[in-house]
This record gives sequence, structure tokens and C-alpha cells, in this order.
Amino acid sequence: MGNRGHWGTRLGFIMAASGSAIGLGNVWKFPYITGVHGGGAFVLIYIICIALIGIPILLAEFIVGRSTERSPVAAFEKLEGGKKNFWLVPGYMGVIVAFIILSYYSVVAGWVLDYTGKAVSGTFGQGHDVASIKSMLGNLLSNGHWQVVLHALFMGITTFIVMFGVKKGLEKASDILMPVLFVILLCLFGYSFTLSGAGEALSFLFSPNFDKLTPAGVIEAMGHSFFTLSVAMGIMITYGSYLNRDQHLVRTSLLVVLLDTMIALMAGVMIFSIVFSFGLDAGGGPTLIFSTLPTLFAQMPGGSVISIGFFILLSFAALTSGISIMEVVVAYLIDTFDWERKKAAFTVGIAAFVLGLLSAYSYNALGDFKIPVAFIFGEDLVFFDFFDKVASNIFLPLGGLLISIYVGWKLDRKILDDEFIPAEKVIVQPLVFILKYIAPVAIAIVFLYGLHFTNPLFEAIGISH
Ligand code: PHE
Repeated sequence: MGNRGHWGTRLGFIMAASGSAIGLGNVWKFPYITGVHGGGAFVLIYIICIALIGIPILLAEFIVGRSTERSPVAAFEKLEGGKKNFWLVPGYMGVIVAFIILSYYSVVAGWVLDYTGKAVSGTFGQGHDVASIKSMLGNLLSNGHWQVVLHALFMGITTFIVMFGVKKGLEKASDILMPVLFVILLCLFGYSFTLSGAGEALSFLFSPNFDKLTPAGVIEAMGHSFFTLSVAMGIMITYGSYLNRDQHLVRTSLLVVLLDTMIALMAGVMIFSIVFSFGLDAGGGPTLIFSTLPTLFAQMPGGSVISIGFFILLSFAALTSGISIMEVVVAYLIDTFDWERKKAAFTVGIAAFVLGLLSAYSYNALGDFKIPVAFIFGEDLVFFDFFDKVASNIFLPLGGLLISIYVGWKLDRKILDDEFIPAEKVIVQPLVFILKYIAPVAIAIVFLYGLHFTNPLFEAIGISH
């Protein structure tokens, strides 16, 4: 384990864990899927999933990671006394899903880089109307080769940082940049209240209307609660493995979750204020933030300067998340095959780049190519959506289910107890109860309910879709 470092400070770990959690999931994905799935009811399910399932699984991962000091696969192997049995499966699933997410996450990050370039060259000042912003976005999406260049750039930077290891790469980057992003978001959030659509945005987000929520929306809300916290794929096991023993797990976890959720909700309020002020389409899909934010920048005083700060920092937020996703796969290769960190990062970077090509071409060259998965998801999907849905809505819930069951039912209670400082031990009982019963049952129900081919099952018991 020669390559294993430790977080220098307590703050360093919190920053790195929230650096992983806070990313495109909050600012790009949360508003877009909330729009697609009709607002309030979706948001409510999302928040319930975060609180009831997300936090316990985050804790479960920290426990597994810190008690073993291993990356996911090796961690489960160690807990199982070196046996290679079924419990390596959640570890392997994490490695696979990390790899898939990395591939398309980098493509979206590439879009952000494009908008960063636009911001820096002064594109987002006054004078842009909705039509010109639309055509700007259309030009980007239709240009597959350019997206590949941006994707290569993002993957290249991510790979470079992961090559240089835990402390130097991850900690330094997160420490400085995340607080600044938070402040800029706070400004934009505040400003969005001056827009005429702010009231409508608040009621769209916070008054639940269950008529608008489909089964697919329910599973998407749950899948996203895992995605946004970076859980159920081993990231937090890996990060926990670098965590010193004297840190307070509960406090740390709650802080990370709170920050992550606040940022998502702030982004939501901001985006939907724009949507309703300018009559845009709430269900605009994966490009929602790119079609709305420039309108805000064109309105607000100093918009062109703020747009620069915003997109640069969003790029960094994407980077700190991208790094954490890559780290899962890299740590696996290091721990299992004894690879050099540099070799592992380089190989993963190239391979994920190649897989990501399918996503970069999803809205242009491959635009007509739909994968026939309607029987699972209710509709056929382009590669980009396919990877996202398989990763977020299938792999992450299953991974979360297994981790929950493992820590709730199988993990030695003494190991679990030892991970909590005395002041936080009160949490052990309720945590084990949730991990044993509530989380697995809730995940299983949502999972079955949300998949298209199980509809007849639910109709048979009188729950219509
Ligand atoms: N949580 C990160 C975000 O919200 C993305 C991510 C997903 C990171 C899955 C790791 C695992 O952007």
C-alpha cells in the first residue's frame, strides 16, 4: 500500500468530500431532471431519499473505507477475511459505474469549458436575446468534433491531477475553489429573486404536485440522490480510506450533505426563475442550464464579469468531482494489480475518453441512433442518456442496496461501533436500523416501481402508472 496517503487536515477531508459531491450533478443535472419530471413532487422525493437513504449510505461507506484503509474491492475482501466472495460485487460495480460516469461526465464538463471560453471572450454581456442563446447552444451540440476536443481537454486535466496523488492533487484544488464557487452561486441566487418569475420558480420547486410525477421520475429522484452525494460507487469508501481515525464521521457527513443539497436547491431556484421569467421550456433536458444562464447574464449588471467567474468555478467543481470518479478506478488498479499510480491514471483516462466519444456524438453524428431500451426505461435512448440512466438509475441504486445490506446485516458490530467517537455513538442504533430495514426496502420498492417492465406488477396490485 505504498501509494496510500492521508488527508493532511480535517478541513481538507471535508473539502475534498464536498468537492466530490458538489459538481455538475448539482448545477447541471438537478435543475434539468427536476424540470423534466415536473418540479415539486420530484424535489420532495429527492430530498426524502437524501435524508433517509443517502446520509446512512454515505456513513456506511466512510465506515467501510476507514476501517479497512482500502479501495472498494480490496475493502470488502479485507472485511471478508480475504475471501473472494459475493461481497466483492458492490466493489466491482462501483469500479464499473465510476468508469461509465467518468466517460459522459467529461463530455458535459466539456460543454462547461466551451461556455467558460465564451464567457472569457466576453460573449455573455448585455444584448443577447433568447434566440441567439439558443442558436449558440445549437451550434455547440451539433459540433461533435469540437465536443471531442473539449472532452479530451477535461479528461486530460483530470488524468494529470490524479496522476499526482491524493494530497497534492485533490486537497489543494478543493480547498481554495469551492468556497469561492459558493459565494458566486449565492450572488446569482440572490439576484434571481429580482426576476419576475422567481415566485413561480419557488412554487414549481416546492409545492408538490404528484400528478406530474411518473414512476420514471421516482427512480430518477432516488438515483440522483446517490449521484449527487457521490455514493454507492465506492468513492466515499475510497475517500474514507484516506481519512484519519480521529475525525467525526457524523458531523462531517451531515455537513457535506447539507452543502450539497443547498447548492442544488440554490441552482434550481436560479434556473427556474430564469425559465419562468423568460417563458423558456422547463423540460428542456440536459442542456437546460446552457440555454437559461446566458439570459441571466445578459440581464444582470456586471453579468459578463460574473459569467466568467461562474463558468470557471463550475469547471473546477466539475474537475473535483471528475477527479474523485477517476480515483475509484485508479485506486482499484493500484490496490489490486499493484500498478503505478501514473500508469493507472493514464490508462483509465484514455479508456474513459474513448467510451465518452459515444456521448460526445450523441446529439449530432449519432443523433438518430437510439438504443432500444424502452422496455426498461419507457423510451429508447441515445448513448449519452443511456449511460446516465444505466449508471444513475440502475447501478447506483443496486450498489447502494448492497452496501446498505452489508453494513447493516453483515459487518461486525464492533468494527462499526469503533468508527464512532463517544459523542456520536448514539447514532449507531438508528443507523443500523435504517441500513438493515428502511434503506434496502425503500430502494427495492422504488427500483421495481420505476422500471418500465415492472409496471404490470404494480398495476396488478392496483397501483396504476
Ligand atoms: N456528485 C458529483 C456531482 O454531483 C458527481 C459524481 C457522481 C461524483 C457520481 C462521483 C460519483 O457532480
